[in-house]
Amino acid sequence: APARQNFADRLEAALPPARLALLKLIADRAHRRRLPVYVVGGFVRDLLLNRPSQDFDIVVEGDAIALARALERELGGRVTSHSRFGTAKWHIAEIRASLLKNTLRLDNADLSDLPEYLDFISARTEFYDYPTALPTVERSSIKLDLHRRDFTINTLALRLDGRHYGDLYDYWGGYADLQRGLIRVLHSLSFVDDPTRMLRAVRFEQRFGFQIEDRTLQLMHEARDLLRQVSGDRLRHELELILAEEDPLPALQRLEELQLLESIHPDLHWNPQLNDPMHAALKAPLESAWNLPETWGGAPIRRMLAYLVWFLPLPAEKSANLAQRLRLPHHLREGLKIGAELIPDLPGLLDCAPSRIVARLDGVPLPVIYALFLLNRTSEIAEVLSTYATRWRHIHPVTDGHTLRAMGVSPGPAYRRILWALRAAWLDGEIHSPEEERRLLEQLIPTKPHD
Ligand code: CTP
Repeated sequence: APARQNFADRLEAALPPARLALLKLIADRAHRRRLPVYVVGGFVRDLLLNRPSQDFDIVVEGDAIALARALERELGGRVTSHSRFGTAKWHIAEIRASLLKNTLRLDNADLSDLPEYLDFISARTEFYDYPTALPTVERSSIKLDLHRRDFTINTLALRLDGRHYGDLYDYWGGYADLQRGLIRVLHSLSFVDDPTRMLRAVRFEQRFGFQIEDRTLQLMHEARDLLRQVSGDRLRHELELILAEEDPLPALQRLEELQLLESIHPDLHWNPQLNDPMHAALKAPLESAWNLPETWGGAPIRRMLAYLVWFLPLPAEKSANLAQRLRLPHHLREGLKIGAELIPDLPGLLDCAPSRIVARLDGVPLPVIYALFLLNRTSEIAEVLSTYATRWRHIHPVTDGHTLRAMGVSPGPAYRRILWALRAAWLDGEIHSPEEERRLLEQLIPTKPHD
């Protein structure tokens, strides 16, 4: 039997009182039904590393759905479940107030101290019928449930029920590896079962300042070609988890070093010259005067900037290949294409009048311009792009279509030509006031029919 250490104190210190009380309540109800219950995985790992997180799943050695339903019967809320996976979600958002007041008796606690739902998972094992397939699922012991996980450091469980409260269950050597700082798979087919684990290995290694253990590294070398067969959606998801890390740059560097990026696609690489612009895209404050939107095509702006910074420096064809391989969203693909066409024109814009620059940049999505700004920080190009984004693009004549109509200009292509001529005159400093605009307008307008 594995050594039993108790981490009840750690648990008590890490969780806010309301969350802890709820956890204990669940453990009590499980205990009454003689069901062993645990918190496992990332939550326990982070707790033992003294970087506690708040979110946990409850793993039940037995029927998790039945436990969730019993809680629903006793306390309310609403349970949804997946019988195939033996999982249940107990939705408690609407009963949080009564839970706090009547059940947990925590009058001073805040509603937000409790989660909106809790996941209950029956301990299970999974079989992969063939590499990269979705697994077949079967009920099992906690020990086997933990065995299907990616790395030993993610196989730790803390038991919650009865006298076992706070006991660490360490069946697979996770605690020692956590202390030694090692990322280690549990068996030699782990990366064959799920090649995305190779990207996860790098992510955890760099996040915690750990080392991928030698044998695991060897297995990665042997399995890395399997990344070629993984879907673009799954790979993009893993890459985005990396981009969302506190500091993704060392992980990108390590992926390159381990030849994992080129295993995803031969054109995919990480170049450390991109460290600065990538940091600026993901972490540094965005230039507020640019007024960038928070999302682009529905996706968070920083993530979109990260892809732009990463792929815009590539030849158009390669970036199109990568966009296809990773199934990047439509906006981003278009942006990469537009950006690739713009890049060769940028040096030529340096000596141009503002109106020429605006004519070239209008229609280029602002995130693309910002990414090019970040990629050209040390050149005068950055200055031009920034002036465009913060000043020139906002300069418009007082005159608009309604004015022209009221002046008797018949609608048609002339409108665009006239309005652009006025805007260009403002941009290039040929006019400085509405009066001057008015005078120019009169010169531009063909003789009025009724004159
Ligand atoms: N897991 C796995 N193989 C994967 C993905 C996940 O074995 N390809 C397992 C891991 O053991 C992990 C658990 O499923 O502990 C939950 O996955 P996830 O939520 O991604 O893990 P966390 O460890 O919580 O990661 P993070 O700290 O980044 O949230």
